[in-house]
Amino acid sequence: MIGYIKKATIAGSIAVLSLALGGCEIGPKQSDQLGYRGTGMNQVNNPRLKIPAAVIPAKPYDLPADLGPLSSVSYKNVQVLGNVRTEEFNLLMAQMNQWIAPPEQGCNYCHNPENMASDEKYTKVVARRMLQMTQQINSRWSNHVKQTGVTCYTCHRGNAVPANIWAVKPGSINPSTITGNKFGQNAPDIDVSYASLPNNAFSTYFQGKSQIRVASDSRLPSPNHVVSTKDAEKTYGLMMHMSTGLGVNCTFCHNTDSFRSWPNSRPQRVTAYYGIRMVRDVNEGYINGLASVMPAHRKGPLGDPYKVNCLTCHQGQNKPLGGVSMISMAPSLKGPVGPPAGMEPAPAAAAPAEDGAAAAPAVAAAAVSGAPASTGPKKSTPAH
Ligand code: HEC
Ligand code: HEC
Ligand code: HEC
Ligand code: HEC
Repeated sequence: MIGYIKKATIAGSIAVLSLALGGCEIGPKQSDQLGYRGTGMNQVNNPRLKIPAAVIPAKPYDLPADLGPLSSVSYKNVQVLGNVRTEEFNLLMAQMNQWIAPPEQGCNYCHNPENMASDEKYTKVVARRMLQMTQQINSRWSNHVKQTGVTCYTCHRGNAVPANIWAVKPGSINPSTITGNKFGQNAPDIDVSYASLPNNAFSTYFQGKSQIRVASDSRLPSPNHVVSTKDAEKTYGLMMHMSTGLGVNCTFCHNTDSFRSWPNSRPQRVTAYYGIRMVRDVNEGYINGLASVMPAHRKGPLGDPYKVNCLTCHQGQNKPLGGVSMISMAPSLKGPVGPPAGMEPAPAAAAPAEDGAAAAPAVAAAAVSGAPASTGPKKSTPAH
């Protein structure tokens, strides 16, 4: 009898154990050291989950030797790409077709075939703004996208609407009451990688100028530093998204000795800092302004157009498309081209300051070799 119970218990434990381990990824992992030895700055990867190198669509055709006159000469209603030669313009149209338009509609997704110059389809009006937005990213945000740059394909990947987008979520029923208002917490949501953190970080941090930093610069409580627990949770929610978006863990950017310290962080954190500002610029300067152009079914529950987050471009890779650059295929997207007067949006500051207080952060490269960068650590001014 006792033997039987023992056996049943063992069998039961094995069953429970295998259930408990069911969520684990079996097999050896690969761990890459990213920071100084002993700081725990390791990136653990499961080689079996590695995202295959993205398939980059081939150029539709090669350009002829003679690129022809400027498109502003050849065509009637060219407002952004006027300084691009006609053949290059035509190739870009074929590429936009390939990158965005549903194949069964092709050019007609944006054009009335009877009158190519007409702006009657909203998709063409949106595409024109997207041309300016892509040029803005490539020309003004090279502190994020470097020389790799982006094309329409980085976000769209053959879809009319990119796969990973967000819109403002409907808020609480009655914002002035506490009861029944979960502030987006404990509601499993991919936006915060299913953590119990507030899931509405995007509308706070991916538009506007809200302060993300929550850590104090002093050991003792200070009236100059009043940050609510909720704010801190929202920041952590945002960080969960950034990690998931890039397919990395927190130590890809941070040294957990201090999440606040810039000198101890990896240089990638600075790239991420500019990435946040770039996303704000794209969403506010370009996409929100399309609200009056977009039809209702292209807008979120509160009527704002769908916007960009880290996942839109990165899709789980630390560099979108595995770091492959497509910009040489479509050099006119480098911008700024076309008549700049009145067409170009206000330039983004080279080093976007946070409410004029914090300078762009400087970090010492925590090289694996252990040699700190010669630039030397610089303390960024705390913004609070
Ligand atoms: C995703 C939307 C989109 C698709 C798809 C698209 N176009 Fe365009 N097209 C535009 C936009 C936007 C402009 C205006 C560009 C500007 O203002 O600088 C334009 C302008 C043009 C013009 C200039 C018309 C004029 O006289 O002003 C021609 C010609 C043209 N496209 C041809 C094509 C062809 C051919 C295809 C299919 C291979 C195509 N387009 C696919 C968005 C699109
Ligand atoms: C940074 C990411 C990003 C890039 C780069 C980008 N787009 Fe978009 N695009 C978006 C988002 C997000 C939407 C969805 C807006 C919505 O549905 O409310 C969108 C929507 C569109 C639409 C509307 C489609 C529809 O069916 O409603 C067109 C057309 C378009 N983009 C064209 C372009 C073109 C052309 C380029 C390159 C010159 C481009 N986009 C580059 C993010 C991007
Ligand atoms: C891709 C880089 C990156 C990753 C990955 C990342 N962070 Fe961050 N983190 C940043 C940047 C950039 C800031 C500063 C944002 C700003 O100043 O606007 C920041 C700020 C923070 C802050 C606030 C620091 C302060 O000064 O108050 C905390 C806390 C934090 N991160 C925690 C985390 C945690 C926890 C994770 C993992 C779940 C994580 N981060 C993943 C880049 C990253
Ligand atoms: C418009 C597309 C786009 C968006 C949106 C975007 N990125 Fe990037 N990001 C890029 C490109 C392109 C690169 C590659 C630059 C290079 O070649 O070094 C990159 C590189 C990075 C790197 C450096 C990775 C490395 O291995 O050195 C970090 C970190 C990063 N992005 C963080 C972010 C974060 C965080 C967000 C969201 C706040 C974000 N990015 C949003 C396009 C984008």
